[in-house]
Amino acid sequence: MEKRTISFSPPDISELEISEVTEALRSGWITTGPRTKLLERRLAAYIQTGKTDIDTEQNPALWENRVVCLNSATAAEELNLRILGVGPGDEVIVPAYTYTASASAAIHCGATVKFVDIQKDGDPDTHMPEMDYDKLEAAITEKTKAIVSVDLGGIVCDYDKIFEIVEKKRCLFKPIESDGSTLGVLSARIQKAIGRVAVVSDCAHSLGASRVFKGERKYCGSIADFSSFSFHAVKNFTTAEGGSSTWLPIDGIDNKEIYNMYQLLSLHGQNKDALAKTKIGAWEYDIIGPWYKCNMTDIMAAIGLRQLDRYPELLKRRVEIIKKYDETCDSLGISHLVHHTGYMDSSNHLYLIRIPGIDVDKRNLIIEKMAEQGVATNVHYKPLPMMTAYGKDCSAYMNSYDYYHNLITLPLHTLLSDEDVEYVCETLRKVVSEVC
Ligand SMILES: Cc1ncc(COP(=O)(O)O)c(C=O)c1O
Repeated sequence: MEKRTISFSPPDISELEISEVTEALRSGWITTGPRTKLLERRLAAYIQTGKTDIDTEQNPALWENRVVCLNSATAAEELNLRILGVGPGDEVIVPAYTYTASASAAIHCGATVKFVDIQKDGDPDTHMPEMDYDKLEAAITEKTKAIVSVDLGGIVCDYDKIFEIVEKKRCLFKPIESDGSTLGVLSARIQKAIGRVAVVSDCAHSLGASRVFKGERKYCGSIADFSSFSFHAVKNFTTAEGGSSTWLPIDGIDNKEIYNMYQLLSLHGQNKDALAKTKIGAWEYDIIGPWYKCNMTDIMAAIGLRQLDRYPELLKRRVEIIKKYDETCDSLGISHLVHHTGYMDSSNHLYLIRIPGIDVDKRNLIIEKMAEQGVATNVHYKPLPMMTAYGKDCSAYMNSYDYYHNLITLPLHTLLSDEDVEYVCETLRKVVSEVC
């Protein structure tokens, strides 16, 4: 086969996104404004119903305020934890097998991260490196305020199990007392209303993924108490950088109060954004807290609006590629993520494979040889406890280490032609037979 160059995960940007960005630039409004607000409403409609045919521009009755667009998933997770009142003295449980942002957001809030190992070889159906739920249950203490579940690769965790565990441990949970500040009052009310460890989903990879939860099919973003999506350049759905927070309704708390707190936390604690200040005579504002600046711009939202129009088609193409990869890996005896089961449909974000009987050196050799043939691959992820920032000791998380040691991520994106996919499969076949 003639050599091809296959990138790992380039963004799929069409003329639609380009012209929407151009219009945003020409509109005179480039920071957070009408396009960001529209993207929030459209994402809310998409996540709650899975239907993109709802024209929320025309039907304000369908608008929901339970999505806030920000400049990254990391900011979204951090704000989720801050709104929950997570801080010094609290513990947040995070799987050992994930990206640093799943853990660092809790550390930014001053909390202590407690890692939990994954199940041996991941979930039995999907092979996703999902937490060991017995270990998760054992890790919950009186200090635990949140569990960060990671819907890795687009595959949705077993939330029935996670919620069963947090319900079982309800008796250990002690809600914080309000410190009297605007944020403190809201956080204390939220903790009291939830009354147990909060489930905070890192669904950075999983826009559009769904799973049967409590007997009903639900979309990621409407399962956990709080969720964070990433719209980074390598994600299925991109705004270059970007992300969003979503949350479930909380008893006794108006959605608007929570939405407004995200606005404060993402805009210096300033109680009027630039758009609100354009109203006649409305210049004056207050600073409620000395907070962050992590808002989404309308230029980013312009990309997102047109990406969302195209998203169902983009997901379909990913499914086609996954089918081809599944056939190839099954024929080679290579284990891979299973993106679709009767009860779960992934967002088809990452294609992780694990090659039996090889060590780290052979895995790395396969990656090198694939690269020499023009195929870029990757590893998702080196377990966090192996990283310098997290202590460089994985000995307590050996299932995570085992999962990682023979793992390769194949390129999966919508710029791949059928011929490209064929080339990746043939290259994998050839290289594996050479190395193994
Ligand atoms: C699992 C996971 N969580 C969070 C993030 C952070 O996303 P962002 O770059 O939008 O902050 C990433 C980024 O790749 C990720 O893979």
